[in-house]
Amino acid sequence: MPTPPPSSTWHLVGGGAIGMALAHRLYATGEPVRLVTRTPCPDPVELVYRDGDGPPVTWSCPTTSPSEESPAAGRTVHRLVVATKAYSVGDVLDAWGPRLAPGARVFFLQNGTGFRRPGDLPEGVHALDAVNTGFAAFRSGERTVKQTGDEPFQIGDVIGRSAPAFDSIIDDLDHLNRAGIEAVWTPSIREHQWLKIAANAVINPLTAIYGCRNGVLLDRAETSDLVDSLCVENDRVLEALGFGAASRGLLERTRHIIRATASNVSSMLTDLNRGDGRSELDYINAALIRAATDHDVEVPVNRSIHDRVAERFAACRSR
Ligand SMILES: NC(=O)c1ccc[n+]([C@@H]2O[C@H](COP(=O)([O-])OP(=O)(O)OC[C@H]3O[C@@H](n4cnc5c(N)ncnc54)[C@H](OP(=O)(O)O)[C@@H]3O)[C@@H](O)[C@H]2O)c1
Repeated sequence: MPTPPPSSTWHLVGGGAIGMALAHRLYATGEPVRLVTRTPCPDPVELVYRDGDGPPVTWSCPTTSPSEESPAAGRTVHRLVVATKAYSVGDVLDAWGPRLAPGARVFFLQNGTGFRRPGDLPEGVHALDAVNTGFAAFRSGERTVKQTGDEPFQIGDVIGRSAPAFDSIIDDLDHLNRAGIEAVWTPSIREHQWLKIAANAVINPLTAIYGCRNGVLLDRAETSDLVDSLCVENDRVLEALGFGAASRGLLERTRHIIRATASNVSSMLTDLNRGDGRSELDYINAALIRAATDHDVEVPVNRSIHDRVAERFAACRSR
């Protein structure tokens, strides 16, 4: 079979907050995009995007589904952005792996670690991790998204290369930057992932347990003390992982994130409220506890907080 021509279309899998926000930013600068939703969706679908408190922009977003892009058509997808929660990544790659062209780039936007399986991508496909601490978006309606933060995505590969290994990756980053999605290559993606996990492992479970918006964590003595205790433990884990220098100021950074996202509902609380028992706990809190165990670091507060959240998710599953 002849090799199909490279496609420049961005396939964004996951029509949630991040997927809808990125799709709009790319589309607005003329990039070809296709949003892939889990449930059937009209093509195009009408979406609403708001940049902060700016005016709502209604736009027609092209969509597609794995069934429309059958593997029989060949491996035609070159740019895949996985914008689902960590627990959905396996399903996404089962569906889209066979459609990825040799040399395709797959961008993983998930919070946490440990959601990839060995051999989950075809040979010759490049996996890229994207970490951000400030590109924040939330759904204010089924097809409405508001973007509330705009800090750079750090992008890197598992090898920790000092620069992108292929021109196609450089080209992708250029296109993201032109769309106003700041994308910076980093040789230290693992460090960025763990710094983010260390803060997420504080904010996510506490907001889920106390059923509150992020900002409330610093308003109450009980939750504020827990923020402090968790940061002390997480700092030790980062130190043991070799990220001590970068981790300095974890408590201050976490408090800053809480203040900057004060009115946000965390993604773990959103998952808990959805009520189907699916959570990112294993990829964030349990991942941190596993790392602590591997390095003989005691994390009793983390263990207790993890167990309290796990109980709440288990209660949803058994309902
Ligand atoms: N939102 C933020 O500000 C933010 C910031 C930084 C990082 N992140 C990370 O980015 C990722 C996405 O976050 P989010 O807030 O956008 O989550 P979200 O609003 O829950 O969106 C995820 C979307 O993925 C869809 N999905 C699940 N499985 C799918 C499949 N197999 N095929 C197609 N679509 C599928 C879900 O559909 P259903 O609803 O039908 O299940 C949902 O629409 C998470 O890992 C999150 O931790 C988010």
